[in-house]
Formats: sequence, C-alpha cells, structure tokens
Amino acid sequence: MLTPEENELICRVGPGTPMGDVMRRYWHPLIISDELPEPDCAPIRARLLGEDLIAFRDTNGKVGLLAEQCPHRGASLFFGINQESGIMCIYHGWKFDVDGNCVDMPSDLPESNYKDKVHATSYPTVESAGVIWAYMGPKDKQPPPPNYIFNNLPADHVIAFRVPIECNYLQSMEGNIDSTHLGTLHVYHQDKVPVDLETDKPGYPSSKFALYTRAKYRFARVDVQDTDYGFRLIADRPTDAGNKYIRTNCFVLPYTAFIASQGMNGGVLIQVPIDDENNQRVGIRYNVNEPFTASDRRAAIEQGALMDPADPKKRLKRMDNDYMIDRWAQKNTILAGIWPIPEQDYALIETMGPIYDRSKEHLYGGDAAIIRCRQMLLSMARNLQEGIEPPGLDPSIPTQKIRSEEIIIGPDEDPWLVAAGAGETTKRGERLR
Ligand code: FES
Ligand SMILES: [Fe+2]
Repeated sequence: MLTPEENELICRVGPGTPMGDVMRRYWHPLIISDELPEPDCAPIRARLLGEDLIAFRDTNGKVGLLAEQCPHRGASLFFGINQESGIMCIYHGWKFDVDGNCVDMPSDLPESNYKDKVHATSYPTVESAGVIWAYMGPKDKQPPPPNYIFNNLPADHVIAFRVPIECNYLQSMEGNIDSTHLGTLHVYHQDKVPVDLETDKPGYPSSKFALYTRAKYRFARVDVQDTDYGFRLIADRPTDAGNKYIRTNCFVLPYTAFIASQGMNGGVLIQVPIDDENNQRVGIRYNVNEPFTASDRRAAIEQGALMDPADPKKRLKRMDNDYMIDRWAQKNTILAGIWPIPEQDYALIETMGPIYDRSKEHLYGGDAAIIRCRQMLLSMARNLQEGIEPPGLDPSIPTQKIRSEEIIIGPDEDPWLVAAGAGETTKRGERLR
C-alpha cells in the first residue's frame, strides 16, 4: 500500500516531476525500427514521458526525434517534409536536422543569419534489437546505449513489438513481476490434468508440465534479492515428485522485466511511460542459439499485439468491448475467458483505472517483488531530488549477462544459484540500497 502522496510521486513522469527526472536518466525503447522503414520516409508521431514528439529517418538513415511543435510558432512537424537530411516545417519552411539544428530558413531575409540561432528540441536515439531507443535527460548524464543480451544478437535472433496500454506504467510493470497470478489468470481448465510427469526431475520442464504445476500449486513462495541492476525474484513452487519448480525473473530499473524463460530462449517486457495515464509494452523475444523463422515472428507479434484491423493503432480487445470476454469459456476452457494471454493481463491492469489508487489495497507475501520495486522507485525519486543519481546505470554492470530462468531443481538445491551470471549476490536477503 502507498499513501496518496507516494502514489503521485511514483506515477507522475512528466517534465519536472521527481519520477520524470529519474526516468530521464535511462534509455527508452520507443519505436520499432520498421516503423521508419527507409531514409526520407514519412515522419511518425511519438509520445514519451508526457512529451509530444515526431520521429523521422533522414537521408543517411539516422533517426531524429524532435519536439512535435516547430520552434518558430508551434506548427506540428508531423506534417513536415523529410528530405535532403532534414525535416522541413511546411508552415514557413524552417528545416531541422536530426540534432535539431535549423539548417534552412527560406522565409527569412537572405542577409539574415537567424537560422544559426534557432534549435528544435531534439533527443538522441540509438537503434538496436530492432528498436529505436531514446534518451531525454541531461547531456552530461547520458549513459552508454542499452547493452542487454538482445542488443548483441543478429537481427534474426530477436523479435520486437510494441503495444499501447491505457494506464500508468507502474500498473503494467507490477503485473510483469507478479508471479502468483500465473496460477489463476493464465490457467486453462485442462491444465489441471496431470501430463508429462516424466519431466518432474531436475532440468527443464515441458510447457505442459509447467502449466499443470502452476494450476495445481496456485501459490508460490516469492523471494526477492537486490542486484546492481534492480533485483531478482524467485517464485518457488512444489512439484508432485517433491522437487522445486523455480521461476526466476529479473527486474531491471526502471521498468524492465526478464520473464522466466528456459535457457537461451528469452522474453523481456518493458513498460515505457508514454504519459501519466498511458504506457506502451515493448516486448522482446530472443533466441541465442538459432534465428526465428518468419512464422515465429508473425505469431509472436500477432499474439503480443492483437490490433484492430479496422483501426490498427488500437487494440482489438479493449475496455469498451470488455476485452470480448467469453463467459462460457470462463467456466469450461480458460479461466480468464479472454484470449490470448497478454490480453488477460491488459484487461485486468487497464480496468484498475488510469492511475490505480494504491492506498486501499491489501498486499500479501506473494507481492514481495511489487513491494520491493515500489520501495526502489520511490527512493530513487527522492534521492535524485537530493542530488543522488539513480542506480543501475554504471557501465561496469554486466547487463548483457542478465538471464531469467524456468527450471526444476532438486529439493535440497539453492534456487539463488540459478541463472546468477550477472554478478548477482546469492546471499539471500542482502539489501544493496
Ligand atoms: S511554424 Fe514552423 S516554420 Fe513557422
Ligand atoms: Fe500475466
């Protein structure tokens, strides 16, 4: 539970807010590279941390991210012409390059050099993992570009997509580190039938066995351990044969979750604050060992972002159609009555309200990771106001080694030793901040 003041502090991310300042110390995955498919293509609108922006790919392929409003008299640069290494505002012809320099001012007197004094607000971008990342903070605090495992793989080993979600980023993010909903929200009635019991031994469970175990043992012992990049959480469930079914998620500040996945085949969910009442999920799947096929790619994107064919900017299943809930299915096939799995999460998270009021909730042990996440973010917001920079940004942190894991271990094995390759302490309970 948070006080109303704490809730405001942690949720508001606009310019000049304490959490907005924290967010402006990190790189944000904003746009999928394919949305700007070629040099000089049409610009697109974007919005991040409450600021309206336009993105364009210039003649050299470099991506510019500018404040949407032209610095002359505020016309939208969305209507601008992107050509010859810059975007030209079609009101009076002022033209800006990707760094925001005004490179042409044809409507000013020929002898004037006023254009040299004008700059559009511009933000640096980098492209990797099929995503355009943006940094909106002070120049002297700009960290090195993101360096996770998926930023270091060939393009065909990574799938990235983004989905609009109509609520504050924190609600979505809390869902990504919430292990105990797996035994309810994401369960089929058929999952309760014992299957693949032969995988109940140390090693990787089959997905059927994992579903069966989560449906049978609906609780999980959730434990959290601070790391240099945020924290790890372990959800520990029993199995029929007396082993431990372990799911390890990594929470990377300020809003990224490596979701428990087996071995070198990973899934990451990043909940980017668009403004106080909207966020976008950037989903990334990666496979270290082999490239994805075209059909893997199609399936992952379709399931991650089920969009409305009549209005491709909107999700098909949304609040105004009750996420197309099927009450018969709820009692007979799938508990949520909503399909596919990500929509189950979106339905419950969005209907908490645009900014969920955390002053009336009742947290339990299963919410340990959510509690730790809030503590960290709140202290980061307060600390930065006192001049203490946020954690997780030191380039010596081996972020490329962060891994989540889903595995069965023996009854006497230590779950903290699972997937601890990024310098994580295995001393339980140690607090780093
Ligand atoms: S408003 Fe853009 S050039 Fe005048
Ligand atoms: Fe979920």
